[in-house]
Parts: sequence; structure tokens; C-alpha cells
Amino acid sequence: MIKDNSYKAVMNRKNEIMKNAIGIDYALFENEGISFDYEKMMRETGYSLEEIEKIQSNYAVGNTPIIELKNISDLARKISPEGKGARIFIKDEAANASGSFKARRAATAVYHAKRKGYKGVIAATSGNYGAAVASQAAMQGLKCIIVQECYDSKGIGQPEIIEKARKCEAYGAEVVQLTVGPELFYTFLLMLEETGYFNASLYSPFGIAGVETLGYEIAMQFRERIGKDPDVVVCTNAGGGNLTGTARGLIKAGATDTKVVGASVNLKGLHMASDNQFNKKSFTTGHTGFGIPFSTWPDRSDVPRSAARPLRYMDRYVTVNQGEVFYMTELLAQLEGLERGPAGNTSLTAAFCLAQELDEDQVIVVQETEYTGAGKHINPQLTFARENGVEIKFGNPQEEICGQNLILPYHPNLIKINEINIDKIRKSYIKNAIENNHIEQLSKQDIEFLAKDSKSSKEFVTEVSKEILCTI
Ligand SMILES: Cc1ncc(COP(=O)(O)O)c(C=O)c1O
Repeated sequence: MIKDNSYKAVMNRKNEIMKNAIGIDYALFENEGISFDYEKMMRETGYSLEEIEKIQSNYAVGNTPIIELKNISDLARKISPEGKGARIFIKDEAANASGSFKARRAATAVYHAKRKGYKGVIAATSGNYGAAVASQAAMQGLKCIIVQECYDSKGIGQPEIIEKARKCEAYGAEVVQLTVGPELFYTFLLMLEETGYFNASLYSPFGIAGVETLGYEIAMQFRERIGKDPDVVVCTNAGGGNLTGTARGLIKAGATDTKVVGASVNLKGLHMASDNQFNKKSFTTGHTGFGIPFSTWPDRSDVPRSAARPLRYMDRYVTVNQGEVFYMTELLAQLEGLERGPAGNTSLTAAFCLAQELDEDQVIVVQETEYTGAGKHINPQLTFARENGVEIKFGNPQEEICGQNLILPYHPNLIKINEINIDKIRKSYIKNAIENNHIEQLSKQDIEFLAKDSKSSKEFVTEVSKEILCTI
């Protein structure tokens, strides 16, 4: 019998395809109504932290160094009020095989795929994760296909995404490059079905458990180096796995007083799925175009329940502008002698501001760096922005309008964070949970789950849900 491979038919069998491709029956974790047992999902399908550390160390992942940025910390102190200006550190995740923390996610997923007898892995990603899966598949001896959303309708691609395609191919993966739109998920499903390969989803428990080692290492390294846990850890936030895994690792190490701050590049006004605006952005990840939708509705990913639930762990969420991150990338290279890629420098930009709020003896950690390369570098990005009609100038970055200009700060004291109202994000999440589940009344279990999943309280959820349920 010939299979119906029309868009509609493939979408109709998506749950079955996913179940075969990831080997998890998500129904096992579901409760009545809105809630599901998140910890059970993480426990029963994940590995222990010790096992993951072992897997990662076998495949050139983890145990990355921490580096104090003394010159950048000094600069922050110069523009801070008296006695302020915390010590800024980075965790050099660029030292992982494939050059980013994504190797932690990939090592665990690829290991699991191999153990379960899959012949290959597929991942839908335009980012560092593709390179990470390709690198791990090469090391662990599996085939690898990476599906990328790469081009606008004129066939023009962002330099960073093209860079990633080259990197995946260098590791021997097959790269399928698509234009922006719903085609990606359809093609991804078809390929999973046709090849029988494992879905190395960014959002599976294997992937997120892989990042827990990052948070755990931070706590252990700081205890050894300075005798205490860091005061603040800043995580660049997009789909939420980076923050979730790191925070869970910190908690597993007992570092429960450490504040976890999410940071994203502000891309307000640019629509991610718009053909015309796709190439107007200078950042392909760690931006609000992913950060906000995934925080307010994590279950929008390629698995039924995302293991990345950033709101559950976030104490604060801040944004910085594109021009500020470019400037900080230059500062890192010229003051510290470290040339690193844009995603980690997003958190570094935020940390530079947050340090100015903290006392001099406090410690703030940027929990990752990423490699830089031909397409990620400032020069191709600024050239590409100019070719796309974006004006580049020096000035006050607070006046930057996404898609129209890129403003590099005249002076480091013009670099500012913008605070996202986290209660608003929480409300939006609760609203999405109620609407997407078509719920008319919340049960006690729902309220408890939503309070935990949004790091709020039962009172907060009850109050917010009353307003929402009255209006729908
Ligand atoms: C280097 C780097 N940092 C941070 C992020 C953001 O991670 P997440 O999507 O898990 O929030 C990404 C994701 O693309 C990344 O590649």
C-alpha cells in the first residue's frame, strides 16, 4: 500500500512517528487536565548525573574551565557606584567538542540512540545543536541528518546559519536546507518515518539532563576555587533548555541560593516566521523571538512535553540589544584576549550590567561561551545587516529599532539591561496552559502544577486563573 504523504496525512500521524522516533510514551506522565509529572519524566527516561558525566567525558564533553574576566570586571567597577561591581566569570563551554554547551545535550541523546539500536539520528535545528549532534554522531559511529530552516524565499541565508551547515557537513552529516515556513516540521517527520532514525530532539529529557552537568560543575568549581557558590548565574535563553538544565544542575549540587537570570537579545518587532524579516536579524539564537514564546508556552516544541521549562527556574529575565552584544564581543576579545561567539556574549552583556548592581566581593557567572567562526563573527554579520538595509552607527543602544538600525554604544555606560516583567510572563503562561488544554476550571492538581511550573504560588495561579476564566 502506498503511504499518503500529503501534509495533512503526515501531520495526522505525527504522534505515532514521534513515539517510534524517540522511544518515549509521553502518555505515561500525563494527569487529568493541565498537569503532567515532570520529575517522573526526567527520572524514568533520563540517566543519573554520574552516568551522564561519564558518557560526556568519554566523548570530549564537559569539565570546561572557568575564567575570571578581570579587565571587564574592572571596567564595570569604573562605571558602578562606590563599592559595587561584582567579579565576572565565564564558563568556557567553547572548549567542548563542537564548540558549545549543546555538545552536552547531544552526547546524551546520541548515546541513548545508539544504546537503543537506532542506526542514525536526526535533528531539526539551524543552530549549534546541529553541529553538536553531527560531531557526537561522528564520534559514536551513527549516521546523522540535520534539517535546517536556512533561507528566505530568494535563497539567501543568514551567515551564522550557513556557517552551521558547513560545520555539520564537515562532521560528515547530511544537511537538508529549507526555506522559512511550516515545511520544516513536515520534512522532519517524513525523514524520521522514512529512515527510522532517532529524533535527537533538543527538548527530550536526555538532552536537558545532559545540561545538568553544566550547573553541577559550576557549583563544584566555585566551591573549590573561591569556597562558595556564585551569587548569580546568567543563562542565554531561547528554547529554555540551557537555563533549565543549568538550574537543575545547580539545585542537584545544593546551590539553592544562587539566583538564575535569563538573558535574551531583544528582537522586538521582528517576526520569526516572516520571509521578509528573517534576514533582518543579526542573531539567530538567544533572542526574544524564541525566548518569549518558549517561556510562555514550552510545549510548542517537537515533542509532546518539553523537558525545557525555563519559567520553572528563572528568578529574573532581562534583555539586551544587538549593538550592545556586538560591542561586548569586541570587549571580550580586546580586553580579555578571548574571541567567542554571540550567544554566550548575550549573557556577558547582561552580566556586565548586573555586576554593577552587586557588591565587589560578589560573584556573577556567565555559564557559557560558544566558538566563533566565519559566519558568526561580527564582520560578516554587520556586512549582512548593511546589505539588508539595516543602518549601523554609534550612539545610544537604547534607541535601537530592530530591523532598522544597529547601535553600538558610544561608551560602556550606555549598555543597559531591560527587565522583563516576569509576572506578566507567568500570567501569559497560565493563560496558554488554560486555553491550549481547553480547561474551564482548574483542579487542585492543576493549580499546584502551574505554581511550580511558573515559579509562583498557588495564590498567584488562583488569582490569575480567575481573571482568565472570566474572559473566556
Ligand atoms: C551557544 C548557545 N547558547 C544558548 C542557546 C540558547 O539555548 P536554549 O535554546 O536552550 O535556551 C543556544 C541555542 O541555540 C546556543 O546555541
